[in-house]
Amino acid sequence: MKHLYRLSRLFKKMPKVFVTREIPEEGINLLKEKGYEVEVSDFDGVLPREQLLEKIKGADAVLPLLTDKIDAEFFDAAGPQLKVIANYAVGYDNINIEEAKRRGIVTTNTPEVLTESVVEHTIALICAIAMRIVEADKYMRNGNYKGWAPKLLMGHDIAGKTLGLVGLGRIGSLVAKRMKDGFDMRVMYYDVNRSQDLEKNAGLEYAELDAVLKESDFISVHVPLLPATKHLISFEQFKMMKPTAYLINTSRGPVVDEKELVEALKNGVICGAALDVFEEEPKMAPGLAELDNVIVTPHIASATEETRGAMSELAAKNIIEVLEGREAITPIK
Ligand code: GLV
Ligand code: GLV
Repeated sequence: MKHLYRLSRLFKKMPKVFVTREIPEEGINLLKEKGYEVEVSDFDGVLPREQLLEKIKGADAVLPLLTDKIDAEFFDAAGPQLKVIANYAVGYDNINIEEAKRRGIVTTNTPEVLTESVVEHTIALICAIAMRIVEADKYMRNGNYKGWAPKLLMGHDIAGKTLGLVGLGRIGSLVAKRMKDGFDMRVMYYDVNRSQDLEKNAGLEYAELDAVLKESDFISVHVPLLPATKHLISFEQFKMMKPTAYLINTSRGPVVDEKELVEALKNGVICGAALDVFEEEPKMAPGLAELDNVIVTPHIASATEETRGAMSELAAKNIIEVLEGREAITPIK
Protein backbone atom coordinates (compact mmCIF):
# COMPACT_ATOMS: atom_id res chain seq x y z
CA MET A 1 0.00 0.00 0.00
CA LYS A 2 2.74 2.34 1.06
CA HIS A 3 4.63 1.45 -2.11
CA LEU A 4 1.65 2.13 -4.31
CA TYR A 5 1.20 5.47 -2.62
CA ARG A 6 4.84 6.34 -3.19
CA LEU A 7 4.53 5.24 -6.79
CA SER A 8 1.47 7.37 -7.36
CA ARG A 9 3.38 10.28 -5.97
CA LEU A 10 6.11 9.63 -8.49
CA PHE A 11 3.70 9.91 -11.37
CA LYS A 12 1.44 12.59 -10.06
CA LYS A 13 3.29 15.81 -9.46
CA MET A 14 2.36 16.99 -6.00
CA PRO A 15 1.56 20.66 -5.49
CA LYS A 16 4.39 22.79 -4.25
CA VAL A 17 3.76 24.99 -1.22
CA PHE A 18 6.19 27.60 0.03
CA VAL A 19 5.94 29.00 3.57
CA THR A 20 7.97 32.21 3.88
CA ARG A 21 8.96 31.75 7.53
CA GLU A 22 8.68 29.17 10.26
CA ILE A 23 5.19 29.24 11.80
CA PRO A 24 3.57 26.97 14.42
CA GLU A 25 3.51 23.45 13.03
CA GLU A 26 -0.25 22.77 13.09
CA GLY A 27 -0.80 23.95 9.53
CA ILE A 28 2.49 22.66 8.17
CA ASN A 29 1.51 19.18 9.35
CA LEU A 30 -1.84 19.40 7.55
CA LEU A 31 -0.10 20.34 4.30
CA LYS A 32 2.43 17.54 4.67
CA GLU A 33 -0.31 14.99 5.40
CA LYS A 34 -1.75 15.87 2.00
CA GLY A 35 1.51 14.79 0.46
CA TYR A 36 2.29 18.26 -0.85
CA GLU A 37 5.85 19.25 -1.43
CA VAL A 38 6.15 21.73 1.45
CA GLU A 39 9.13 23.99 1.92
CA VAL A 40 9.37 26.24 4.97
CA SER A 41 11.96 29.00 4.78
CA ASP A 42 14.73 28.33 7.29
CA PHE A 43 16.01 31.89 7.02
CA ASP A 44 16.27 33.47 10.45
CA GLY A 45 14.08 36.52 9.86
CA VAL A 46 12.08 38.05 7.03
CA LEU A 47 13.30 36.45 3.84
CA PRO A 48 15.17 39.07 1.78
CA ARG A 49 13.25 40.01 -1.36
CA GLU A 50 15.61 38.39 -3.85
CA GLN A 51 15.63 35.09 -2.01
CA LEU A 52 11.85 35.22 -1.64
CA LEU A 53 11.38 35.73 -5.39
CA GLU A 54 13.73 32.82 -6.05
CA LYS A 55 12.07 30.48 -3.55
CA ILE A 56 8.51 30.95 -4.83
CA LYS A 57 9.38 29.91 -8.41
CA GLY A 58 7.02 27.12 -9.43
CA ALA A 59 4.93 27.25 -6.25
CA ASP A 60 1.23 26.39 -6.47
CA ALA A 61 0.57 28.01 -3.11
CA VAL A 62 2.42 30.45 -0.90
CA LEU A 63 1.83 31.07 2.79
CA PRO A 64 3.35 34.51 3.43
CA LEU A 65 3.50 36.81 6.44
CA LEU A 66 2.32 40.39 6.73
CA THR A 67 5.97 41.40 6.32
CA ASP A 68 6.09 40.00 2.76
CA LYS A 69 5.03 42.27 -0.07
CA ILE A 70 2.81 40.38 -2.50
CA ASP A 71 2.60 42.29 -5.78
CA ALA A 72 2.88 41.91 -9.56
CA GLU A 73 6.62 41.25 -9.33
CA PHE A 74 5.94 38.48 -6.81
CA PHE A 75 3.30 36.87 -9.04
CA ASP A 76 5.59 37.07 -12.08
CA ALA A 77 8.41 35.44 -10.15
CA ALA A 78 6.18 32.61 -8.91
CA GLY A 79 4.83 31.75 -12.35
CA PRO A 80 1.41 31.10 -13.89
CA GLN A 81 0.75 27.91 -11.87
CA LEU A 82 0.33 29.93 -8.65
CA LYS A 83 -3.22 29.45 -7.38
CA VAL A 84 -3.41 30.72 -3.83
CA ILE A 85 -1.82 33.13 -1.36
CA ALA A 86 -2.81 32.31 2.22
CA ASN A 87 -1.73 35.31 4.29
CA TYR A 88 -0.76 34.50 7.87
CA ALA A 89 -2.65 37.54 9.22
CA VAL A 90 -6.08 39.08 9.24
CA GLY A 91 -4.77 42.33 7.75
CA TYR A 92 -3.82 42.17 4.09
CA ASP A 93 -2.42 45.59 3.24
CA ASN A 94 0.75 43.72 2.19
CA ILE A 95 -1.08 42.17 -0.77
CA ASN A 96 -2.09 43.80 -4.03
CA ILE A 97 -5.55 42.23 -4.06
CA GLU A 98 -6.61 43.75 -7.38
CA GLU A 99 -3.54 42.34 -9.10
CA ALA A 100 -4.21 38.90 -7.62
CA LYS A 101 -7.83 39.05 -8.81
CA ARG A 102 -6.78 40.09 -12.26
CA ARG A 103 -4.61 36.98 -12.46
CA GLY A 104 -7.23 34.69 -10.96
CA ILE A 105 -5.12 33.99 -7.85
CA VAL A 106 -7.15 33.37 -4.71
CA THR A 107 -6.07 35.29 -1.60
CA THR A 108 -7.08 34.38 1.94
CA ASN A 109 -6.54 35.82 5.44
CA THR A 110 -7.10 34.61 9.01
CA PRO A 111 -10.13 36.42 10.45
CA GLU A 112 -12.00 35.29 13.57
CA VAL A 113 -9.40 32.87 14.93
CA LEU A 114 -7.39 35.84 16.19
CA THR A 115 -10.20 38.17 17.26
CA GLU A 116 -10.18 37.10 20.94
CA SER A 117 -6.44 37.45 21.41
CA VAL A 118 -6.24 40.85 19.70
CA VAL A 119 -9.16 42.02 21.84
CA GLU A 120 -7.47 40.74 25.00
CA HIS A 121 -4.23 42.47 24.07
CA THR A 122 -6.13 45.69 23.44
CA ILE A 123 -7.76 45.44 26.87
CA ALA A 124 -4.41 44.65 28.47
CA LEU A 125 -3.01 47.83 26.92
CA ILE A 126 -5.98 49.89 28.11
CA CYS A 127 -5.54 48.61 31.67
CA ALA A 128 -1.75 48.90 31.62
CA ILE A 129 -1.70 52.49 30.34
CA ALA A 130 -4.48 53.66 32.69
CA MET A 131 -2.88 52.05 35.74
CA ARG A 132 0.70 52.86 34.72
CA ILE A 133 1.68 49.23 35.12
CA VAL A 134 4.84 49.38 33.00
CA GLU A 135 6.07 52.58 34.63
CA ALA A 136 5.38 51.10 38.07
CA ASP A 137 7.26 47.93 37.22
CA LYS A 138 10.30 49.93 36.10
CA TYR A 139 10.04 52.04 39.25
CA MET A 140 10.19 48.95 41.46
CA ARG A 141 13.05 47.33 39.58
CA ASN A 142 15.05 50.52 39.67
CA GLY A 143 14.84 50.47 43.47
CA ASN A 144 12.85 53.70 43.66
CA TYR A 145 10.12 52.45 46.00
CA LYS A 146 10.64 53.98 49.44
CA GLY A 147 7.27 53.08 50.96
CA TRP A 148 3.53 53.62 50.44
CA ALA A 149 2.66 57.18 49.43
CA PRO A 150 -0.73 58.81 48.76
CA LYS A 151 0.16 60.30 45.41
CA LEU A 152 2.55 57.69 44.09
CA LEU A 153 2.03 56.78 40.40
CA MET A 154 -1.62 57.77 40.24
CA GLY A 155 -3.44 56.56 37.14
CA HIS A 156 -7.03 56.82 35.96
CA ASP A 157 -10.16 54.72 36.44
CA ILE A 158 -11.64 52.87 33.49
CA ALA A 159 -15.12 52.02 34.79
CA GLY A 160 -17.73 54.58 33.87
CA LYS A 161 -15.44 56.29 31.36
CA THR A 162 -16.08 56.62 27.65
CA LEU A 163 -14.41 54.29 25.19
CA GLY A 164 -14.23 55.56 21.61
CA LEU A 165 -13.74 52.96 18.92
CA VAL A 166 -12.47 53.92 15.52
CA GLY A 167 -13.60 50.95 13.46
CA LEU A 168 -16.29 48.49 14.51
CA GLY A 169 -15.39 45.27 12.69
CA ARG A 170 -14.99 41.92 14.38
CA ILE A 171 -12.26 43.17 16.68
CA GLY A 172 -13.74 46.59 17.48
CA SER A 173 -17.17 45.17 18.27
CA LEU A 174 -15.76 42.55 20.65
CA VAL A 175 -13.68 45.21 22.44
CA ALA A 176 -16.96 47.14 22.78
CA LYS A 177 -18.76 44.17 24.28
CA ARG A 178 -15.99 43.27 26.73
CA MET A 179 -15.52 46.84 27.94
CA LYS A 180 -19.22 47.50 28.26
CA ASP A 181 -20.05 44.22 30.00
CA GLY A 182 -16.87 43.98 32.03
CA PHE A 183 -15.99 47.59 32.82
CA ASP A 184 -19.33 49.41 32.54
CA MET A 185 -17.88 51.79 30.00
CA ARG A 186 -19.92 54.02 27.76
CA VAL A 187 -18.96 52.99 24.23
CA MET A 188 -19.02 55.31 21.23
CA TYR A 189 -17.86 54.32 17.77
CA TYR A 190 -17.15 55.65 14.35
CA ASP A 191 -17.08 53.42 11.29
CA VAL A 192 -17.92 53.83 7.61
CA ASN A 193 -20.65 51.26 8.24
CA ARG A 194 -23.19 51.70 11.00
CA SER A 195 -24.38 48.74 13.03
CA GLN A 196 -27.98 49.46 13.98
CA ASP A 197 -28.03 46.05 15.62
CA LEU A 198 -25.19 46.82 18.04
CA GLU A 199 -26.56 50.28 18.68
CA LYS A 200 -29.95 48.86 19.62
CA ASN A 201 -28.99 45.64 21.32
CA ALA A 202 -25.61 46.42 22.84
CA GLY A 203 -26.15 50.10 23.56
CA LEU A 204 -23.27 51.39 21.45
CA GLU A 205 -23.45 55.01 20.33
CA TYR A 206 -22.54 55.97 16.79
CA ALA A 207 -20.98 59.38 16.15
CA GLU A 208 -18.85 61.09 13.53
CA LEU A 209 -15.11 60.65 14.04
CA ASP A 210 -14.62 64.16 15.46
CA ALA A 211 -17.31 63.66 18.09
CA VAL A 212 -15.88 60.28 19.12
CA LEU A 213 -12.44 61.86 19.52
CA LYS A 214 -13.78 64.81 21.51
CA GLU A 215 -15.84 62.79 23.98
CA SER A 216 -13.75 59.70 24.66
CA ASP A 217 -11.35 58.99 27.51
CA PHE A 218 -9.85 55.99 25.73
CA ILE A 219 -9.64 55.86 21.94
CA SER A 220 -8.88 52.51 20.37
CA VAL A 221 -8.21 52.07 16.66
CA HIS A 222 -9.52 49.00 14.80
CA VAL A 223 -9.59 49.87 11.10
CA PRO A 224 -7.69 48.15 8.29
CA LEU A 225 -4.89 50.09 6.60
CA LEU A 226 -6.26 51.57 3.36
CA PRO A 227 -5.43 54.74 1.44
CA ALA A 228 -8.42 56.29 3.23
CA THR A 229 -7.24 55.31 6.73
CA LYS A 230 -3.56 56.27 6.38
CA HIS A 231 -2.84 58.97 9.03
CA LEU A 232 -6.51 59.01 9.94
CA ILE A 233 -5.29 60.03 13.40
CA SER A 234 -2.91 62.97 13.03
CA PHE A 235 -2.18 66.19 14.93
CA GLU A 236 -5.53 67.71 14.02
CA GLN A 237 -7.23 64.70 15.60
CA PHE A 238 -5.01 64.74 18.70
CA LYS A 239 -6.03 68.36 19.25
CA MET A 240 -9.68 67.31 19.33
CA MET A 241 -9.02 64.73 22.06
CA LYS A 242 -9.20 65.48 25.77
CA PRO A 243 -5.85 66.26 27.39
CA THR A 244 -6.61 63.27 29.64
CA ALA A 245 -7.27 60.91 26.70
CA TYR A 246 -5.33 57.75 25.91
CA LEU A 247 -4.80 56.37 22.42
CA ILE A 248 -4.54 52.62 21.84
CA ASN A 249 -3.54 51.14 18.50
CA THR A 250 -3.49 47.41 17.73
CA SER A 251 -4.45 47.76 14.04
CA ARG A 252 -1.75 49.04 11.67
CA GLY A 253 0.91 51.63 12.43
CA PRO A 254 0.36 54.01 9.50
CA VAL A 255 -3.24 54.68 10.60
CA VAL A 256 -1.69 56.96 13.23
CA ASP A 257 0.83 59.67 12.33
CA GLU A 258 3.49 58.48 14.74
CA LYS A 259 5.74 61.55 14.57
CA GLU A 260 2.79 63.78 15.35
CA LEU A 261 1.78 61.43 18.14
CA VAL A 262 5.20 61.95 19.73
CA GLU A 263 4.65 65.73 19.54
CA ALA A 264 1.17 65.42 21.04
CA LEU A 265 2.46 63.28 23.90
CA LYS A 266 5.43 65.54 24.60
CA ASN A 267 3.27 68.63 24.70
CA GLY A 268 0.49 67.20 26.85
CA VAL A 269 -2.06 67.39 24.01
CA ILE A 270 -3.13 63.90 25.08
CA CYS A 271 -2.26 61.91 28.20
CA GLY A 272 -0.76 58.69 26.90
CA ALA A 273 -0.62 56.00 24.23
CA ALA A 274 -0.31 52.23 24.07
CA LEU A 275 0.83 50.84 20.74
CA ASP A 276 1.32 47.37 19.32
CA VAL A 277 1.96 48.57 15.76
CA PHE A 278 4.26 51.20 14.24
CA GLU A 279 4.57 53.10 11.01
CA GLU A 280 7.90 51.65 9.98
CA GLU A 281 8.28 48.39 11.83
CA PRO A 282 10.49 47.38 13.45
CA LYS A 283 11.47 51.04 13.98
CA MET A 284 9.75 53.49 16.28
CA ALA A 285 9.36 57.21 15.62
CA PRO A 286 12.22 59.22 17.16
CA GLY A 287 11.46 60.14 20.76
CA LEU A 288 8.66 57.62 21.27
CA ALA A 289 10.70 55.19 23.35
CA GLU A 290 11.86 57.95 25.70
CA LEU A 291 8.33 58.86 26.82
CA ASP A 292 7.03 57.50 30.12
CA ASN A 293 3.40 57.91 29.11
CA VAL A 294 3.74 55.33 26.35
CA ILE A 295 3.55 51.55 26.32
CA VAL A 296 4.93 49.71 23.31
CA THR A 297 4.64 46.04 22.37
CA PRO A 298 6.21 44.45 19.27
CA HIS A 299 3.15 43.64 17.08
CA ILE A 300 2.14 40.70 19.28
CA ALA A 301 -1.59 41.25 19.74
CA SER A 302 -2.40 37.91 18.10
CA ALA A 303 0.59 36.13 19.61
CA THR A 304 -0.91 33.57 21.95
CA GLU A 305 0.01 29.93 21.49
CA GLU A 306 -3.63 29.09 20.86
CA THR A 307 -4.19 31.80 18.28
CA ARG A 308 -0.95 31.47 16.35
CA GLY A 309 -1.64 27.73 16.09
CA ALA A 310 -5.19 28.35 14.88
CA MET A 311 -3.92 30.87 12.32
CA SER A 312 -1.47 28.28 11.01
CA GLU A 313 -4.25 25.72 10.70
CA LEU A 314 -6.65 28.12 8.96
CA ALA A 315 -4.03 29.30 6.46
CA ALA A 316 -3.18 25.67 5.61
CA LYS A 317 -6.84 24.69 5.25
CA ASN A 318 -7.38 27.60 2.89
CA ILE A 319 -4.54 26.31 0.73
CA ILE A 320 -5.92 22.76 0.77
CA GLU A 321 -9.42 23.91 -0.20
CA VAL A 322 -8.16 25.87 -3.17
CA LEU A 323 -5.67 23.23 -4.36
CA GLU A 324 -8.42 20.61 -4.19
CA GLY A 325 -10.68 22.79 -6.30
CA ARG A 326 -13.06 24.09 -3.65
CA GLU A 327 -13.81 27.57 -2.35
CA ALA A 328 -11.40 28.94 0.23
CA ILE A 329 -12.73 29.09 3.81
CA THR A 330 -11.85 32.75 4.37
CA PRO A 331 -11.21 34.30 0.95
CA ILE A 332 -10.42 37.99 0.68
CA LYS A 333 -13.24 39.36 -1.45
C1 GLV B 1 -1.70 41.03 12.50
O1 GLV B 1 -1.38 42.19 12.57
C2 GLV B 1 -2.70 40.57 11.59
O2 GLV B 1 -3.14 41.31 10.71
O3 GLV B 1 -3.08 39.39 11.70
C1 GLV C 1 -10.66 42.14 11.90
O1 GLV C 1 -10.71 40.96 12.18
C2 GLV C 1 -11.77 43.03 12.17
O2 GLV C 1 -12.78 42.92 11.47
O3 GLV C 1 -11.68 43.84 13.11
